[in-house]
Parts: sequence; structure tokens; C-alpha cells
Amino acid sequence: MKEKLVVGQIGCGAFAMEQHGPNSVRNPGIAGIKWACDVNDGNARKYADRFSVKKITGSFEDVTTDPDVDVICIATSHEIHVPIIESAARHGKHIFCEKPMAMTEEQAYKIIKAVKANGVKLW
Ligand SMILES: NC(=O)c1ccc[n+]([C@@H]2O[C@H](COP(=O)([O-])OP(=O)(O)OC[C@H]3O[C@@H](n4cnc5c(N)ncnc54)[C@H](O)[C@@H]3O)[C@@H](O)[C@H]2O)c1
Repeated sequence: MKEKLVVGQIGCGAFAMEQHGPNSVRNPGIAGIKWACDVNDGNARKYADRFSVKKITGSFEDVTTDPDVDVICIATSHEIHVPIIESAARHGKHIFCEKPMAMTEEQAYKIIKAVKANGVKLW
């Protein structure tokens, strides 16, 4: 286990700006935020400027497949949680996901299955 973890932020709207970003930069266990990912480029850029993030993308797979990233923080809208979490887990990333994690039992079971199969942590 690395002493300090690298974060990738997926979803850079209101909650990411006011909670995830400040919490990540204040956390002594976090080395830095490498990615600001949002389908809204303006939101990704605002987040990146505020938290000194070097890389910006509209595609979550850029973040979930980056070998430097240890943890992803998800603050997107809800319908996209399952594919992001499945991809992150498959690539060995730990995951912090905003509530609600899932909108249906089926989505919740898919998420739990992906996390257990790949031995990653999910908050
Ligand atoms: N824990 C809490 O108390 C709390 C409070 C508020 C919101 N939330 C949760 O936080 C999440 C975000 O809420 P918000 O208020 O910041 O919403 P928001 O609409 O301000 O931000 C969501 C962002 O996700 C982006 N997004 C949507 N689909 C995406 C995708 N496929 N890839 C990348 N980015 C994508 C949107 O462009 C937007 O910038 C929601 O799940 C909400 O329920 C939790």
C-alpha cells in the first residue's frame, strides 16, 4: 500500500467543488488530484483551476484506466454510477461514490459484485 494516494475526480459539479475537492486537498493521506473529469468541460476546468489539477477529460475511462490513480471520487448524476464503478473496480481502483450509490436493487448488486470480484474498497 502506498503511503499517499492519488485521486481522480469524476463529476466536477456543485458537490465536488464544495466537498470532494476541499476534502481531497486537506487530507494528509492524499498526494494530489490527478484528474478532473466531467462531460461538462466548463465544470471540469473550474474544478481543475481551483484544486490545481493538471489533467482534464470528458471520459471517465481516462481516469479509471490510469495506472497512477489509486482512488476515484464520484460526484456525477446517478445513472452513470454502475459503468464507472465497474470500470474502476476492474482496474483496481478504490472508490468513493456519492449517495445514492444505486437507483435500483439490480444496480446495487452489480456494484457490490464488481467491488467484491476485484477486491477494492467502496465507500
Ligand atoms: N452526500 C451528500 O450530502 C450530498 C449532497 C449533495 C449532493 N450529493 C450527491 O452528489 C452527486 C452530485 O451532486 P451535485 O449537486 O454536485 O450535482 P451537479 O449536477 O452539480 O454535478 C454533477 C456533475 O456530474 C457531471 N456528469 C454527469 N454525467 C457525467 C459523466 N458520465 N462523466 C463525468 N461527469 C458527469 C455533470 O456534468 C455535473 O457537472 C449526486 O449523486 C448527489 O446525490 C450528495
